[in-house]
Amino acid sequence: MARCDPHSYADDAQAQTAHLDWAATVDFPTQTLAATATLTFRAPAGGALDLDTRDLAITAAVDQDGRPVPFALAAPDPILGARLTLTLPDGTRAVTLTYHTAPTASALQWLAPAQTAGGVHPYLFSQCQAIHARSLVPLQDTPRLRITYAATLTVPRALTVVMAAAHRGREVVGDRAVEAWHMPQPIPPYLLAFAVGDLASRDLSPRCRVWAEPSVVEAAAWEFAEVEQMITAAEALFGPYDWERFDLLTMPPSFPYGGMENPRLTFLTPTLITGDRALVSVVAHELAHSWTGNLVTNATAEHFWLNEGFTMYAERRIVEALEGPAVASLHAALGRRELDESIARFAARPELTHLRTKLDGVDPDDAYSLVPYEKGYFFLCAIEAAVGRPAFEAWLKRYLADFRFGAITTDDFCAHLEAALPGALAAVDAPAWLDGAGIPASAQAPRSERLDAVLALTGVAPTAAQVAGWTATEWQLYLELVPRPASPALCRELDARFALTAGTNHDVLVSWLTLALGAGELGVVDRVEQVVTTVGRMKYLRPLYTALAKEPRTRDRARAVFARASASYHPIARQMVEGILRDAGA
Ligand code: BES
Ligand code: ZN
Repeated sequence: MARCDPHSYADDAQAQTAHLDWAATVDFPTQTLAATATLTFRAPAGGALDLDTRDLAITAAVDQDGRPVPFALAAPDPILGARLTLTLPDGTRAVTLTYHTAPTASALQWLAPAQTAGGVHPYLFSQCQAIHARSLVPLQDTPRLRITYAATLTVPRALTVVMAAAHRGREVVGDRAVEAWHMPQPIPPYLLAFAVGDLASRDLSPRCRVWAEPSVVEAAAWEFAEVEQMITAAEALFGPYDWERFDLLTMPPSFPYGGMENPRLTFLTPTLITGDRALVSVVAHELAHSWTGNLVTNATAEHFWLNEGFTMYAERRIVEALEGPAVASLHAALGRRELDESIARFAARPELTHLRTKLDGVDPDDAYSLVPYEKGYFFLCAIEAAVGRPAFEAWLKRYLADFRFGAITTDDFCAHLEAALPGALAAVDAPAWLDGAGIPASAQAPRSERLDAVLALTGVAPTAAQVAGWTATEWQLYLELVPRPASPALCRELDARFALTAGTNHDVLVSWLTLALGAGELGVVDRVEQVVTTVGRMKYLRPLYTALAKEPRTRDRARAVFARASASYHPIARQMVEGILRDAGA
């Protein structure tokens, strides 16, 4: 037995799936999918085949000729789910499994009509990264094994399906619609994605379209109108865009992430729609994953920094190309603040602040933090500074080309860099970055005049003249830099002058509310409750619940508001907040 991903039962010595044919009927009343999945192997195979499942009820398994294939479902592991072992007769080319999913499927959120913008139709969406695809489909759920797929989804005819794939067509049969999709480029299973709801779209360019609920689609189209320029900038930096289309899906507010790089169809939180395009760097981030992550993929979650650290670097290069180096430096400075905070949060588990992690027995959702993002970013910047930008860019292009449609480990990265730029790893003390805790002292500090202007105001209330022309990034950075705990007097002055509590840019608003809560300014609690009951993005829930639960005077309210809001949260957001409340004894 040779398992090589701590988060999968997939075994290297066994058959490897090359292609998935998936047919699922979506049933909103029971919140289940009734489905068949046909796994076609790279080569005819025999013997044991271990698949990943979570909360799946398997009713039948047959081979390509309809002959039964023996199968056994093991007791579930709390992190991995249940191993499904098939015993393949020799020469098996494909196996078809019939099953249904559970209402608790960890990849799915089922929304009642009242939880949507339109209020009339239900909504369903998936989020498979890191290890939730197995709650939708029994498969080898490791990014080491890429698959192509074809899918048909049967849904109520009033609803539209979108998938991170190419559309083949829609057929209405009675009160149902059957939508067919296919994904010709091989993907890691965590990139399987779809949504079902009352959806409308607007074309932004020949290869970009934005999808959203009808009442949101105009605002979304305006907010993301510049996406084609982003792709053009990214192609100049990283090579041709390989996925044909780059569509965007504006999610319901309970979407737990800012964005998810599902291929051909990036999922985005609706909190990006601020009316001033202030947060579109998240779109640049998900676009950048089209190269770093979706083309060159981390082999396991232990090498997650290869996805996210590279993507932060690529995101900031796109921002630099479109908005200039000063804006990119503000983003990097904010990143450094967030990195310091994440490292402080992991004080009791410093091994999770290494870039290369050991996650045997660790749920990747629990290990999630900005460390692989921002420490990875500063590590790549250190290498760039050591070898110079031209050499670094040339290497990066070669790295992307050489590992295209592959899955790699940190060692693969090191070997590739060392061969192309001998001595670069040693020059930056790569072991300290990769296998050491915290941030090496040699990490570069971002620099720009705009950044200096914000730094000069650290801890003092600025005048209206001093903030004239500030973008949301400058505001957020200013707020994050206020030494903790902030003085109540400063908080009151800031709110009186700049009406921060009434702000609508959630990145700035949440930085402000966290600061004010930490200063004991309980006047903001109503606004905090409003945020955590209307938005399910974990980046906002985490600091707000942490601050509420930490302060004895608001601990009860933390518990009460969670009791009220938790049914509307995504399962993984619910799990995260439960952890915060538990740790705080709330
Ligand atoms: N791929 C991630 C989201 C993710 C990571 C989902 C791990 C599940 C497990 C996505 O690209 C991401 O990084 N989103 C960030 C965007 C930000 C860094 C610009 C987010 O959601 O905040
Ligand atoms: Zn990312």
